[in-house]
Amino acid sequence: MEAPQLLFFVNGRKVIEKNVDPEMMLLPYLRKNLRLTGTKYGCGGGGCGACTVMVSRYNPSTKTVRHHPVNACLTPICSLYGTAVTTVEGIGSTRTRLHPIQERLAKCHGTQCGFCSPGMVMSMYTLLRNQPEPTLEQLTDALGGNLCRCTGYRPIIDACKTFCKVSGCCQSTENGVCCLDKGINGLAEFQEADETNPELFSEEEFLPLDPTQELIFPPELMIMAEKQAPKTRVFCGDRMTWISPMTLKELLEAKFKYPQAPIVMGNTSVGPEVKFKGVFHSIVISPDRIEELGVVSQACDGLTLGAGLSLDQVKDILADVVQKLPEEKTQTYRALLKHLRTLAGSQIRNMASLGGHIVSRHLDSDLNPLLAVGNCTLNLLSKDGARQIPLSEQFLCKCPDADLQPQEILVSVNIPCSRKWEFVSAFRQAQRQQNALAIVNSGMRVLFREGGGIIKELSILYGGVGPTTISAKNACQRLIGRPWDEEMLDTACRLVLDEVTLLGSAPGGKVEFKRALIISFLFKFYLEVSQSLKRLDPGHYPSLADRYESALEDLHSKHHWRTLTHQNVDPVQLPQDPIGRPVMHLSGIKHATGEAIYCDDMPAVDRELFLTFVTSSRAHAKIVSIDLSEALSLPGVVDIITADHLQEANTFATETFLATDEVHCVGHLVCAVIAESETQARQAAKRVRVVYQDLEPLILTIEEAIQHKSFFESNRKLECGNVEEAFKTVDQILEGEIHLGGQEHFYMETQSMLVVPKGEDEEIDIYVSTQFPKYIQDVVASTLKLSANKVMCHVRRVGGAFGGKVGKTSIMAAITAFAASRHGRAVRCILERGEDMLITGGRHPYLGKYKAGFMKDGRILALDVEHYCNAGSTLDESLWVIEMGLLKMDNAYKFPNLRCRGWACRTNLPSNTALRGFGFPQAGLVTEACITEVAVKCGLSPEQVRAVNMYKQIDRSHYKQELSAKPLIECWTECIARSSYSTRKAAVGKFNAENFWKKRGLAVIPLKYPVGLGSVALGQAAALVHVYLDGSVLVTHGGIEMGQGVHTKMIQVVSRELRMPMSSVHLRGTSTETVPNTNASGGSVVADLNGLAVKDACQTLLKRLEPIISNNPHGTWKDWAQAAFDQSISLSAVGYFRGYESDMNWEKGEGHPFEYFVFGAACSEVEIDCLTGDHKNIRTDIVMDVGHSINPAIDMGQIEGAFIQGMGLYTIEELSYSPQGVLYSRGPNQYKIPAICDIPTEMHISFLPPREHSNTLYSSKGLGESGVFLGCSVFFAIHDAVSAARQERGISGPLRLDSPLTPERIRMACEDKFTKMIPRDEPGSYVPWNVPV
Ligand SMILES: Cc1cc2nc3c(=O)[nH]c(=O)nc-3n(C[C@H](O)[C@H](O)[C@H](O)COP(=O)(O)OP(=O)(O)OC[C@H]3O[C@@H](n4cnc5c(N)ncnc54)[C@H](O)[C@@H]3O)c2cc1C
Ligand code: FES
Ligand code: FES
Repeated sequence: MEAPQLLFFVNGRKVIEKNVDPEMMLLPYLRKNLRLTGTKYGCGGGGCGACTVMVSRYNPSTKTVRHHPVNACLTPICSLYGTAVTTVEGIGSTRTRLHPIQERLAKCHGTQCGFCSPGMVMSMYTLLRNQPEPTLEQLTDALGGNLCRCTGYRPIIDACKTFCKVSGCCQSTENGVCCLDKGINGLAEFQEADETNPELFSEEEFLPLDPTQELIFPPELMIMAEKQAPKTRVFCGDRMTWISPMTLKELLEAKFKYPQAPIVMGNTSVGPEVKFKGVFHSIVISPDRIEELGVVSQACDGLTLGAGLSLDQVKDILADVVQKLPEEKTQTYRALLKHLRTLAGSQIRNMASLGGHIVSRHLDSDLNPLLAVGNCTLNLLSKDGARQIPLSEQFLCKCPDADLQPQEILVSVNIPCSRKWEFVSAFRQAQRQQNALAIVNSGMRVLFREGGGIIKELSILYGGVGPTTISAKNACQRLIGRPWDEEMLDTACRLVLDEVTLLGSAPGGKVEFKRALIISFLFKFYLEVSQSLKRLDPGHYPSLADRYESALEDLHSKHHWRTLTHQNVDPVQLPQDPIGRPVMHLSGIKHATGEAIYCDDMPAVDRELFLTFVTSSRAHAKIVSIDLSEALSLPGVVDIITADHLQEANTFATETFLATDEVHCVGHLVCAVIAESETQARQAAKRVRVVYQDLEPLILTIEEAIQHKSFFESNRKLECGNVEEAFKTVDQILEGEIHLGGQEHFYMETQSMLVVPKGEDEEIDIYVSTQFPKYIQDVVASTLKLSANKVMCHVRRVGGAFGGKVGKTSIMAAITAFAASRHGRAVRCILERGEDMLITGGRHPYLGKYKAGFMKDGRILALDVEHYCNAGSTLDESLWVIEMGLLKMDNAYKFPNLRCRGWACRTNLPSNTALRGFGFPQAGLVTEACITEVAVKCGLSPEQVRAVNMYKQIDRSHYKQELSAKPLIECWTECIARSSYSTRKAAVGKFNAENFWKKRGLAVIPLKYPVGLGSVALGQAAALVHVYLDGSVLVTHGGIEMGQGVHTKMIQVVSRELRMPMSSVHLRGTSTETVPNTNASGGSVVADLNGLAVKDACQTLLKRLEPIISNNPHGTWKDWAQAAFDQSISLSAVGYFRGYESDMNWEKGEGHPFEYFVFGAACSEVEIDCLTGDHKNIRTDIVMDVGHSINPAIDMGQIEGAFIQGMGLYTIEELSYSPQGVLYSRGPNQYKIPAICDIPTEMHISFLPPREHSNTLYSSKGLGESGVFLGCSVFFAIHDAVSAARQERGISGPLRLDSPLTPERIRMACEDKFTKMIPRDEPGSYVPWNVPV
């Protein structure tokens, strides 16, 4: 056997690993071993794309190199033998030259926190290596597996689109009409509003793409591949052996010798099982370049495809075949192709093999149901010989006599051509359109007797509805001989429902939805086939009713990107003054090159330890015992810290760090394991044995909390007018309620910290991804019983936070610091995605109950509202969230008589906390839901009722703060005008009348978002500005850069104030050492408050230097600095802003808690599929009043990013908890944030021209949070579409739609004969899989 030496190239440099560990994945290898930290960890399971790199492989037979993207987190390094890996560092850097994609991503403002950027760059780079001039479709396809939580994707697409053949057009023509020449609903095109509107970036300055400049494939690897004798390679690690046979014979021998060893191809099935389910394989077999596994052969009766082909290769092959063969022969191929287009992201499709997909037999496999109905056969081989088995239901159920034998391998798959009168269809519905496992999918095939329309063969299989792919074989059998008509359909639905049964408690939940999908798909199949029959024999078969054809059409998907209208700077403004200009994010280029350093990118400190947490598996229990002995005895384990070690330092304010004698939620921190390495710590954590005894009551939901009166403190209340009296005078009264699910922050960088004891005077440094360094300093100082001046907290940048990096971060930092201090060694703690989602909580689930009294014209004269938030097990910021909800619940409306009360419910869930918008996205939705219901009752449109209740002029809010609603009205009217609301509303009506199964909906929502912190002290900010003798400036301030561009804005401020180029100003990060006693970064005010402090510091400096400058007005900053030094004038200044005057008296329910209001309006149009619950956001128009924008590119990015995050909140982001309080959704594979496929196909954003001057920073407004709420325009547009469907089906009565409006909720609300047909379970007759909390 060959010496165990792994050889591959990384960024053009040869890597030889002598002692390779087969358990090692490429991601940690790059990051830790090679110190290439540009490639990021976002999830570890292939679901986020942050770890994307390009792998290039030479094929000596075809003499070609294949470049493909992979997720480094799932790529075992042993699989890379002989390949060339390219990471973001390999394609360009600030030290060498930038790659055009890096440059354009940054300059088009496609980076915010920058954590996703290297992955985006590498997905795009790989596409460009294969397609230097891609189409827009190829581009969105290439980026489909990459998530970004900040930007909302539009600027990323803008950047990438500059490489496309025809920039700006979808390049797909329908009826010969280009998308650019055609509006939505056939309406006239959007008018470019402001011709003088400057671009946010200039294409002219971009570096051209020059493919000759790319890294070449290493010739050494080509020679090696050509010359090397095919011989099995074996890599032995401590626990695992990796065998890479290079010939089929060797592969069969290896499989014979180790029949239980998996064949690892793409590792996208084996990898996640090892990582997340704890499966262990001591031996794996990974075939390498075995030609027989890559076979592609086409015969007249079908295709044979090698099991080793990647799914992407299969997709290309099928795309080619369907072009060449007549349609009747390619039914199965077309169906497979349809699913291959949406299956996972590009990385996974390039890694995963056809054989791996088939053999792993996931219950939600998209391809297996189709391969099974298509009568495919599997060509198996073992040392004993070859045999064929059908890819049948028995194979899919793993019946022993229909399965592979352990020593057999799958060599290839025969996929027969379809025959005349044979039809195959593919269906799937997922939470998100792309890169999401199907909730239910299906393959269906029918063969008719020649010409007669009589069923000869019928085959229907479903995925997602059982432990494996399920066949409705009995139903199919009974339908043979039946004509293809409505009667058959009706019988088919009943038979299938009888056969494919789901218990109410079935895993995965959504049981009734799944039942509805089962027959909705069947109906779609019926229509599809009927249509095809009609096409084949028009005389014999009837046409489908026009209105029914909509069941078969795809949802609207024409891409037509945005227009952005922002403000011009004043023409008299000096050209070098950057305020008001779309300056690129300060770190944009470094984000795109991977040079931007995040917490876990910091090199290891000498003798550094790793800390991981053991968390509770019970939601409410007594800890009977904790046995640490086994864990402590494992190699590398240094210590395990429990509450006993922390003693009285175990609490800070209202929070307890580690559980003492009880746990109050699943995910409650129980103890912390510290070991020499991350792997050792994680392995030991699994061996800590905790014995629990469950306690009563177990409170998970808001309703349970109300029932048990389980609240934190007493309720908060605001009241104005006389509600009771007003109820007596109104025309009508309605009562209703709406529930909103929570939301995960899903910052791309998980919670990360590194604590370094300095070894002198007990000093300790904390490098941490947080929004609130001063708080971390306080908590750590208290825990270690040190004074604050010994504890320094440093934050260079944060890879997204959104409110989630304050409370829990400080608790984890305190425990990590305790460990570091106890052992006098640096300790690192980085949460895995699943841990992060489990432990940290998110946006509060909310229940709003309302009673509204209103007049016939829609005026709401009396409103009584109750808000309940699910706070979880500790208080955290929940009361404040409730308070903000009450203060902001009026949104844009004047309710003359209003009572609102709010409660923070104490439950056995992880503590929920701040998330962008801080209570407003929930409270605002409750109000808008109430208004929508009032409109229905009055027979008016929702926008009429919105307009009639809107604040009109100078008015007072319900807590008596004065406000001017002029900009609100302007945004509203402008949004209605810009979106051509009334014309489009008519067009939507026409569309709905013509289409029974697809409906469109339109909604326009106003926004009044109050900005301010409710207290002067919370608004204070400080800055420090140093001028050095060479004339350069270093600025620091109290704000944290978490993607919102605050540092960029601060440099703009210094540049304007000191009248020096931005290039002379530097900002290193935030630290409690330079600016002490800072406030948390959040609440949309970070740039404003800190900017005023920076401005103050600059003005102090200018004042001091004024005599020097006026003495030498044409001098440079170097001259002035030297002169100041010579005259002993300090070149360093502290700036300070004391905070805006604000107050709120909760006793009286009055005050002036906010400094100003951000106004806006959004109009969204959606299309829904009534049969599946799918939806597509067709177009969104946003008009915002942003004051005087400091940086329109950054501000636009904040609005768009927030809008998309809000859209996710209200439509697809769904957390699921078990009835025992266990969070199921712990990663991107179970929890879907918006991906590139979700953004509106058309988007227009405009800023109102700046008008009034205010005392904020250059009269700007903070825009970080307000846009989230505008996402609810999509919610109400869906609501509108669902109402249209219900109306057409004659369903009257109240429509309660909770948030998020998922495919499940949409489908089940569009009641029809199919939803009537499905069996329903009596509540209480079963234990549901999940509970809405
Ligand atoms: C993030 C993510 C998203 C996904 N999204 C989707 C989706 O939308 N739809 C969908 O259908 N699937 C999806 N999947 C699942 C994916 O399709 C499968 O994981 C993949 O096809 C498995 O192929 P592989 O080559 O990686 O298998 P591996 O993990 O390498 O192997 C899987 C199994 O197959 C066996 N095996 C492999 N090849 C052979 C062979 N030649 N002979 C015998 N046994 C063999 C192995 O022994 C092993 O047990 C997703 C997976 C991930 C990680
Ligand atoms: S870290 Fe690899 S895909 Fe998320
Ligand atoms: S910029 Fe994409 S995740 Fe932050």
